[in-house]
Amino acid sequence: MEKKYYVIGNWKMNPGNLNEAKSTAKTLQRITPNSKYVETVICPPSVFLYTLQKEIKGKTKYGHQGIHYEAKGAFTTKISASMAASAGAKFGIIGHSEERREGVTDEMVSGSLKNCLKEGMTPVLCVGENERDQNGFYFNIIRQQIETALSNIPKTRYTDIIIAYEPVWAIGKDAKRPASANEFLEIKIYIQKVITDLSNRKTADEVSIIYGGSADDTNILPFLEAGAMGFLPGRASLEPEVFSKMVLEVIDFAKNEGSK
Ligand code: PGA
Repeated sequence: MEKKYYVIGNWKMNPGNLNEAKSTAKTLQRITPNSKYVETVICPPSVFLYTLQKEIKGKTKYGHQGIHYEAKGAFTTKISASMAASAGAKFGIIGHSEERREGVTDEMVSGSLKNCLKEGMTPVLCVGENERDQNGFYFNIIRQQIETALSNIPKTRYTDIIIAYEPVWAIGKDAKRPASANEFLEIKIYIQKVITDLSNRKTADEVSIIYGGSADDTNILPFLEAGAMGFLPGRASLEPEVFSKMVLEVIDFAKNEGSK
């Protein structure tokens, strides 16, 4: 089976109101090219999700930012997997660094991942170190994040999970720079090793590993060449022109790969 590429937009806490969200989603649905090679997704704030997926339809699917680790209960402000799924989410961004920053632990991520799969959504598990130290301790952080996240997941489901490598130092407008393709490649190989250790080589090869952190239409090609199966852009996903150019680049790359 041919592996799919993904471009998954994380809108974070943007835009400021429903009208703007509708107009951004409308343009994005209209101009984003589609292809059998690439799955495109946008993850708006949850208050907009239901309306957008109902009213602004197109080839781009919708996903949810964050899924709670419990199925229901007294968790003010939180959204469960079944709620997100019933509001139209097909994907769930899990363990994003901006959630981890607010106290979400690897154990919580593990619960969220399990619930997301249970409700039939594709989890996008975000992993990444806060900084790169000289001694390579960041490898241990990635291992710990993946091992704990997958601890309650049957090995047969690993290939239903997308892993997004998002080095925290490369995310957002204050980021110094995106990671380099080599830095991505190094971690991609390491993630495959961790998954091989937990299951087997074949499974590790089949898990889609994507990149996020200041990804846009100007810098993604080297990542594709390094084996990224797609991207998780934040800011670039709020600009339909930029997002659609990214998708086009991924399609072109995937077509070339497919014809090799
Ligand atoms: P950015 O965000 O593309 O704006 O750096 C990426 C992310 O946090 O997923």
